[in-house]
Amino acid sequence: MFDVNDIRSQFPILERTVHGKPLVYLDSGATAHKPLCVTRMVERLHNELNANIHRGVHYLSAEATSLYEQARERVRGFVGASEREEIIFTAGATASINMVAYAWGMDNLQVGDNVVVSEMEHHSNLVPWQQIALRKGAELRVLPFDDEGRLMTERLPELLDERTKMVAVTQASNTLGTMPDLREIIDAAHAVGAKVLVDGCQGVVHGGVDVKALDCDFYAFSGHKLYAPTGIGVLYSKREVLEQMNPFMFGGDMVDSVSFERTTFAPLPLKFEAGTANFIGAIALGEAIAFLQQFDSADIASYERDLTEYCTEQLSAIEGLRIYGTTEGKCPIVSFNLEGAHPYDVGMILDKLGIAIRTGHHCAEPVMAHYGVSGMCRASFAMYNTREEIDALVAGVERAARMLR
Ligand code: ALA
Repeated sequence: MFDVNDIRSQFPILERTVHGKPLVYLDSGATAHKPLCVTRMVERLHNELNANIHRGVHYLSAEATSLYEQARERVRGFVGASEREEIIFTAGATASINMVAYAWGMDNLQVGDNVVVSEMEHHSNLVPWQQIALRKGAELRVLPFDDEGRLMTERLPELLDERTKMVAVTQASNTLGTMPDLREIIDAAHAVGAKVLVDGCQGVVHGGVDVKALDCDFYAFSGHKLYAPTGIGVLYSKREVLEQMNPFMFGGDMVDSVSFERTTFAPLPLKFEAGTANFIGAIALGEAIAFLQQFDSADIASYERDLTEYCTEQLSAIEGLRIYGTTEGKCPIVSFNLEGAHPYDVGMILDKLGIAIRTGHHCAEPVMAHYGVSGMCRASFAMYNTREEIDALVAGVERAARMLR
C-alpha cells in the first residue's frame, strides 16, 4: 500500500490555506491536482525544450517531437491499445467526443437510425449525440437508471435494433459514481452492429482501462482529471475505424500534400491532429501516467474505495441527508443533499471552512431531473485524500445543517 503522506508531499497545493483554514480538496472529479513531476516537466519544456513538433529538422524540434511521440506510446500502453496510431491527442474528452460525433456521425448516421445514450451521461457525452442526431434525422434513445443509480441494462433489448449505430456510455458516472457493466453493454451493442463510445473521464483515473479487452470502438478521456494539465485529452479508436473516418479539423500537420485542386491527408494518427498540437500537455500527460504507474492501480482503487465507504457511512448518519448513487463498486464520488438546504448554501459554508466540493447540476441535468432536484453537493476523492479530510467534511456538513435549518 502506498504512503499517502508521501503522495501528499508531491502535491504542494495541498499545503495551502483557504479562508485561513487548511485546504480540504474534495473536488478531484472536477479536476485533480498535479504532482511536482508534472509541473516540473511543464516548466522544463517551456524553459529548455520548446519547439514545434513534426515541423523542423532542427535539434529542439526533433527532441520535442520525440518526447511527444514517446508520450503517445505511454498512453497506448496505459490504455492497452494495440498500436500508437490508435491514440489521438485532443484538447480534452469533450473535444474527443465531439470529434467522433461529427467526423463519424456525419458520415454514418442517416434518417431513421438511432443513437443510445445513458440517462447518467455528462452533458459532454449527451449533447454532441443529441445535436448530431438532430442534424441527421436520427433518434436519440435513453437507457435509464434506477433510483439506486444502477443502469438498467435489462432494458437494452428494447432500445437496441438494427438501426442503432452508436451507444455512448460512461465508464463511471460523474454524479452517481456508478460504474456500469460495460461488458454487457458493449456485447449487446455489437450484437446489433452498433459502435460503442466509452467516456472514460471519471473511470480511467480510478482503476484504468484495457480498451482491447473491453473491445470498445472509441474511448475518450481528459488529462486534467488524471493529474495532468488542462487542455490535453485522448481519443482512442480501433485502427480500422479511424482509417475509415474522415478528418474532423483541417489545417497544418494533418495533410500529406496540398494543392488548390486537391488535398491528401496524413496517415494516422496525424490525420486527426490538425494545427499545432498541445505537445507540452501531451508530454506532461505522459509524465502524469508515469507518476501513476509507480503504484499498483488496485492499491489506489482500494484506498479510494475505503475513503468512499467511510464518507458514505459518516454522511449517512446525518439526519435529513440523502446520498444519490449507492451502487456496489462505485467510483470515489459521493453526491448528496441536505433536506431543506440549497446545495450552493452548503457549498459556501464548507468553502468558508476551507473545504472544496462541487455544487450544482454537475453538467448532468438529466440526473438532477431523475431525482427532481436542481442540484447536488458532490465530494470526489483522489489518491491524495485522507480520512481526516472526510471527518472535516462531515463536521462541516453537520455545521451547515445546524445553520441552514
Ligand atoms: N466534468 C467535471 C465534473 O464532473 C468538470 O466536475
